[in-house]
Amino acid sequence: MPPTEKAMNDSELQSILDQYDQTHLVQFWEELNADQQSQLADQIRGIDFELLKSLNQGEYTEHDWASLAAKAELPPAITSEQLKSGDEFEAAVKAGEQAIAAGQVAMILVAGGQGSRLGFEHPKGMFPIGPISDHSLYQIIMEKAKARASQFGSTIPFYIMTSPPTHQESSQFLSENNYFNYGQADVQLFCQGTMPAVDSDGKLLLEDKDRVFVSPDGHGGTLAALSNSGCLADMQKRGIKYVFYGQVDNPLIQVCDPALIGYHILRHSEMTSQVVRKSEPLQKVGNVVSVDGVVQVIEYSDLPEQYARQTDADGNLKLWAGSIAVHVFDFAFLVSANENADSLPFHRASKKVPFVDANGQQVKPESPNATKFEKFIFDLMPSANNAIVCEVDAAEGFCAVKNAPPAPSETPEHVRQAISDLHTSWLKQCDAEVADGVKIEINPMFAVDAKQLSNKVNGSEKFTEDTYLE
Ligand code: UD1
Repeated sequence: MPPTEKAMNDSELQSILDQYDQTHLVQFWEELNADQQSQLADQIRGIDFELLKSLNQGEYTEHDWASLAAKAELPPAITSEQLKSGDEFEAAVKAGEQAIAAGQVAMILVAGGQGSRLGFEHPKGMFPIGPISDHSLYQIIMEKAKARASQFGSTIPFYIMTSPPTHQESSQFLSENNYFNYGQADVQLFCQGTMPAVDSDGKLLLEDKDRVFVSPDGHGGTLAALSNSGCLADMQKRGIKYVFYGQVDNPLIQVCDPALIGYHILRHSEMTSQVVRKSEPLQKVGNVVSVDGVVQVIEYSDLPEQYARQTDADGNLKLWAGSIAVHVFDFAFLVSANENADSLPFHRASKKVPFVDANGQQVKPESPNATKFEKFIFDLMPSANNAIVCEVDAAEGFCAVKNAPPAPSETPEHVRQAISDLHTSWLKQCDAEVADGVKIEINPMFAVDAKQLSNKVNGSEKFTEDTYLE
C-alpha cells in the first residue's frame, strides 16, 4: 500500500487500540512482514471492542445462577411414556409426519466445538463411531436425516454449523465423501463467529505475534451465523416452518422424530427441548428447570451442588430433567430471535489460553489465565411461547461422545456399546434372537427405528456373530 495510506491506517488502528487500552496487540508490529501486518490489522478491525469493554465492566452479565437455582422447580414435562402411546401421541405422530412430508422441516447440526476433551485432532463430526461400520458421526447423523426424509418422499435441508477451527476440514471431508449421498444442494455448511478472550486486566491475548487469540462464540452464535450466511433466507425460500436442532456428538439422536415435531406443533410451542432423566445428580448435562413459571436451562457448571442433589419426598432427584441439546424451533421464532440476538447473555468460562508474552515468548499456562465468552442457544427458551419439554429414554436417544479414555463416561467405547445395545433391543422387539456379547449395528437407511426394522427382519432370525445390517 502507498506509504501515506499505510500511515493513515496504522494511525487509525493505533487510535482504536489507544481508546480501548489494547495497544499491546501491536507490540510486535515492526517484526511483522507486510502480509502479517495486514492480517493482524484486519483481525483487529473486526473485533467489537465496545462489546468487550461492556463485558469487562460487568454489563451483559449472566444471571445469578445460585438465586435462580434456589427457586428452580421441575418443568412440566411430557414423559417418555406419553411419547409412545395414547391419542395425543397418535395425533402428534401424524402432525409431525405431515410436516416432514410437506417439506416444512429442516435440520441444523452444530459442529463448531473443538472437542478438546476427546483429544481428537480433527473436527468431532469426523470421529469414527459406528461400532462395526466405523462410520463417522457426520455420516451416521446425515444418514438418519436422509432416511427420515425418504420415509416420507421428501427432503430435509441439512445445515451444518462449523467454526473457523472446524470449517475447512469438515467441508473437505464432506465433499470427498459426496455428502454421504445427501445431495449437495440440500447440505449447507455455515461458519459461526468468534470471540476474543481476556486476561484478568481485561486485555486481549495474542496467540502469536501476528494473531489475536479468538475462539468460537458458543452455539448461541448459531443465530447470527444462520442469518449472516444466508441460511435463514434459504430456509425461508424453501418454506421451512420447523427447525430440528442437534449436536454432532450424539449418534443416538432421533433425527427429526415425527412425534417430537408433532407435539411441538400441537402444543403451539415456539421451542421444544428433549430431556433425559439424569443418571446421577452431577451428570454433565444442562438442567431444564422452571423458575417462576419460566422454562429455562441452568448449565451443569452453574448449578450449585446442593440444588443438584435435592430429592423429592420419594427420594427421587428433584431436578431430573437433563438437556440433551435437541430442540425443535418454530422458524418464525428463530427469525424474530435473530432480530434480538443481543438478548442472549454471554456466559463466562475461565480457561487456560496459551499466549505470547511481552518478551515474545510462548506461554502455556498451567492454570486458567483467561475468560472466554460464549452464548448458548438454550437461553432462547425463556422467550419462547408455550415452550415444552419432552422426555426420551437415554438408551433410545442420548449417548454423546465427549471424553477420551480412561474417563468413566462418554468415551467412544461407551457410545459404541450404547449404539449396539439399542440396535440389539430393536432386533429383540422384532422377536429376533441375538446371542450375548454379539455387536449389532443398523445403518439408518436400513431402519431408523424398531418399527421400520420390523418390516425387514422376521422373528425367526438368529444373530450369533457381529452383524452390520445395511
Ligand atoms: C452441552 C450442553 C449441555 C448439554 C450437553 C448434552 C453447552 C454449554 N452445554 O454440554 O447443556 O446437556 O451438551 O450433550 O452446550 N458447539 C458449537 N460451537 C461452539 C461451542 C459448541 O458448535 O462454539 C457445539 C459442539 O460442536 C457440540 C455442542 O455444541 O456439538 C456442545 O458443545 P460442548 O462444549 O461439547 O458442550 P458440553 O459441555 O458437552
